[in-house]
Amino acid sequence: MKVLIVLAHPERKSFNGGLVDVAIQQLEMAGHAIDVDDLYADQFDPVERAKHYAHHAFDDDYFYPLNEQRAHYQQNTLPLDVQRELARLEWADLVIFQFPLWWHAQPAILKGWFDRVLVYGGRYTSRMRYDQGYYRGKKAVLSVTTGSPDKAFQPFGRAGNMVHWLWPMHASLYYVGFDVLAPQVSYGIQGGGIRYQDEAALMEHLACCKAAWSSRLVGLSSERPIPFTGWDDWDEEGVLHLTSPLRWRLG
Ligand SMILES: Cc1cc2nc3c(=O)[nH]c(=O)nc-3n(C[C@H](O)[C@H](O)[C@H](O)COP(=O)(O)O)c2cc1C
Repeated sequence: MKVLIVLAHPERKSFNGGLVDVAIQQLEMAGHAIDVDDLYADQFDPVERAKHYAHHAFDDDYFYPLNEQRAHYQQNTLPLDVQRELARLEWADLVIFQFPLWWHAQPAILKGWFDRVLVYGGRYTSRMRYDQGYYRGKKAVLSVTTGSPDKAFQPFGRAGNMVHWLWPMHASLYYVGFDVLAPQVSYGIQGGGIRYQDEAALMEHLACCKAAWSSRLVGLSSERPIPFTGWDDWDEEGVLHLTSPLRWRLG
């Protein structure tokens, strides 16, 4: 299997960087090929804007991101950094996104990676979406770290609901066709800032989180993805059919 690890952390020696090393070690041992896509090291520019395009392919006087993306995709003139990222995705069977939870979401560099790399007209169109998405057959998984401890994310916990925080990324990956695996969440990674444990307990906790990720990676490729509804489940307005048995389960 070919595994792309997209790392969104400004410090390679961080715990997040350490989880990348754990993945490299475990996956290489199992005979998989790895490519690490370190967005900060590559100084990936996450802000979609007109200056990325040498010329306006769609309209000279108005920068319309979706139309420019489509036109440049069709003319094979997408920005070089976007072309490089698309080639990496093309190569991969599994994509691991490694990042810390920042303000209940992914760091801005990774949000912008979605904005710029998953180009309209090339990686999704009106029909080429969801279970008809471009990346059908490829898998993706989020490996996330948090500062708050796991208990704070339990129902009624002050840190909120992890399913809600990760939904925008999960939904976006499914939108372009990925099979999305359950996330790996390493809670309570208190490298700096607010501390909830003494040093020895924290070190033991960090080691446990690395071990949990390492052992999960062994069987990751055979895990079943998170179930989503698809085109056959929706009416012409994109709403679950009135007769769908899923209405009883999701309602
Ligand atoms: C800008 C910023 C925002 C953060 N927001 C959250 C948050 O919403 N929830 C949380 O649990 N931790 C939050 N944290 C803590 C980080 O998630 C935590 O420091 C990180 O996961 C630890 O991994 P690292 O040592 O690899 O950086 C935030 C940290 C920063 C720098």
